[in-house]
Amino acid sequence: MKICVVGSGYVGLVTGACLADFGMAVTGVDKDAAKIAALLRGEIPIYEPGLEEIVEKNVRAGRLRFTTELASAIREARAVFIAVGTPPLPDGRADLSFVRQVAESIGDNLNGYKVIVTKSTVPVGTGQMVENTVRERSGGGQEFAVVSNPEFLREGSAIEDFLEPDRVVVGARTQRAVDVMLDIYGPLKAAGVPFVVANVESAEMIKYASNGFLATKISFINEVAEICEAVGADVEVVARGMGLDSRIGPKFLHPGPGFGGSCFPKDTRAVAQIAEQHGKRFEIIDAVLSANDRVQRRMIEKVDQAFGGLAGKTVALLGLAFKGDTDDMRESPAIPVIEGLVDRGAAVRAFDPAAMSAARAMVPALPPITYCQDAYEAATGADGVVIATEWNQFRALDLAELRSRLKSPLLVDLRNLYQPLRVAAEGFRYVSLGRADAAPEGSRG
Ligand code: UGA
Repeated sequence: MKICVVGSGYVGLVTGACLADFGMAVTGVDKDAAKIAALLRGEIPIYEPGLEEIVEKNVRAGRLRFTTELASAIREARAVFIAVGTPPLPDGRADLSFVRQVAESIGDNLNGYKVIVTKSTVPVGTGQMVENTVRERSGGGQEFAVVSNPEFLREGSAIEDFLEPDRVVVGARTQRAVDVMLDIYGPLKAAGVPFVVANVESAEMIKYASNGFLATKISFINEVAEICEAVGADVEVVARGMGLDSRIGPKFLHPGPGFGGSCFPKDTRAVAQIAEQHGKRFEIIDAVLSANDRVQRRMIEKVDQAFGGLAGKTVALLGLAFKGDTDDMRESPAIPVIEGLVDRGAAVRAFDPAAMSAARAMVPALPPITYCQDAYEAATGADGVVIATEWNQFRALDLAELRSRLKSPLLVDLRNLYQPLRVAAEGFRYVSLGRADAAPEGSRG
């Protein structure tokens, strides 16, 4: 089956490459000519483990190609996936102008039955808007169906998430459209992946409710961590004790400096807006958003206290990306931490395995910091280390080497990557989240 994927950003590229891997003939379209030229040269514009290999394999097999020519790609395709950006407007609503433009082009080029699939995270009601737009622009003579097929990909494990999903959600109004989707996702159906077939609005809502719930879990454990500190409990044990209850589950109960990225902050704000537009209040989500802001401010206080004040101090900051295994800086919790540290007079020496060029490009929004080659260079001459991102390589630092570079042996771990006693045994004072601080024997405990 011929498929057109409009938008060669993160979601579009992963979707296009994986559908080609399922055996579909996929054309990836983007209006950014430089991006398409780079893709044609085999250069992948984003950092995502496994993506380059799967793109290359399917381009070589002739199942995946890239173009800026939207009209012809639409005309050739049986299914058109819309995977363009829906950036937040200043009031938190999603900006749907790119989705609308694509719907107009589809309407202009409708030449027979097509299934139009929204893959971007779009407010409830967008499927209907796409349907109305396509109908208006096509003059109403041609048959088509609009399907909502939200993605649940995590940056850093997107290929795995696509090829081995927990579920596939298909929101459609007709069985004919559902059947086309089942054909497209044939390998997943055959592998026994559950399919949730729903109406378009329910499918759209599943995406927001899922992201909202996951964000809630994170804010919940972040607040539990704060309370654990006050009462002398250990959040890691508490999270494990909670997570073994199969109704709760162990995932997304890791305390941290707040959730970031291009999805949770945007989608939680958007779903709060959607509720408001319908005269409702999503009170839990409102609380999750304010808890997330507060945890970010709490991190600055925590670092300040651990360093005994920040004025004139040098902080080695490990991690800039919003989470490990990505170069993405969007709404990274490291940003408010850096702002807070610099504001209070600290100099920041930072290292991130993948996100340093994205961070450099954020000037002047991000205050000036020194970028270092690795964790040890960042630590050289610093008054302490702060871990802000859960990169695996930060779980396995050579602590003796790190300590030898520092002016004072202080490790503030905003991701709880280490066992406190182990770090203290290496001569560090160790400050983490929701657990008692640890210090080397013989020093102040
Ligand atoms: C998230 C969802 O997990 C995906 O299912 C969804 O498809 C995607 O949004 C989207 O809507 O496109 P992603 O933003 O890539 O994926 O990142 P996550 O792995 O979910 O992490 C989000 C943030 O929460 C990160 O800042 C991460 O460090 C933080 N986090 C996550 C925690 O602080 N604690 C946790 O236990 C888990």
